[in-house]
Amino acid sequence: MGNVVNFAHRGSSKICPENTMAAFRKALEQGATGIETDVQLTKDGHMVLIHDETLNRTTTGTGWVKDHTLEELKELDAGSWFHPDFRGERLPQLDELLELAKGGGTIINIELKNGVVPYEGLEEKVIQRVRDYGLSGQVVISSFNHYSLLLCKQIAPEIRTGILYMEGLYEPWAYAGTLQADALHAYHRAVLPEFVAAAKAAGKAYHPFTVNDPDEMRRLLQAGVDGIITDYPDRLDALLAEEK
Ligand code: G3P
Ligand code: MG
Repeated sequence: MGNVVNFAHRGSSKICPENTMAAFRKALEQGATGIETDVQLTKDGHMVLIHDETLNRTTTGTGWVKDHTLEELKELDAGSWFHPDFRGERLPQLDELLELAKGGGTIINIELKNGVVPYEGLEEKVIQRVRDYGLSGQVVISSFNHYSLLLCKQIAPEIRTGILYMEGLYEPWAYAGTLQADALHAYHRAVLPEFVAAAKAAGKAYHPFTVNDPDEMRRLLQAGVDGIITDYPDRLDALLAEEK
């Protein structure tokens, strides 16, 4: 169980504004060994980290991410919606997170947010940047858009991919094989111990999301998952320390 990856979902997103550098740094302080984030493209083709396709919920801006340039987005405040203490947090670019991960062993789970907006060239851009930083071995690319994951594998066989899904896919380890995907990023309720065993036998890792309840974390650890995506990396860190 020592190698279970503790993925902080959008950083430490219950005590910091999600997908900000403050949330990523806090996650590492709390014992996260992985960070999950969401990437989208600006109007002028830059990679920014934000969950929603629109700016309204988590920034001082309005409208679609895709309709704004990087310069415009850099003006926005991405922290004050959460708490005044975080005023001045900006939308990070993917580079800033990769810089943080460089030199340490942190696994970065980059979720391509291309289920609603089909960002052209997103796969190539993300892969190029990961390679530039020499982080191919430390990255897992995930998406609900599985065509996109297949494309990633075709471009970069050396970078791991994980299929995101919500419900009862039939033998997801076999399905993942058809996409040459390495991991199953399943909604946690869709994960049963016998599925984890079958996936292991097929060489596929399970990284369930988003698991915040310690009892559910325990259940999944006992089932033998390879990582857990959580908003509370401190809770998972405490459980992993108990198991040692
Ligand atoms: O990657 C796990 C999880 O982040 C997928 O859903 O909507 O939180 O990006 P969402
Ligand atoms: Mg996500």
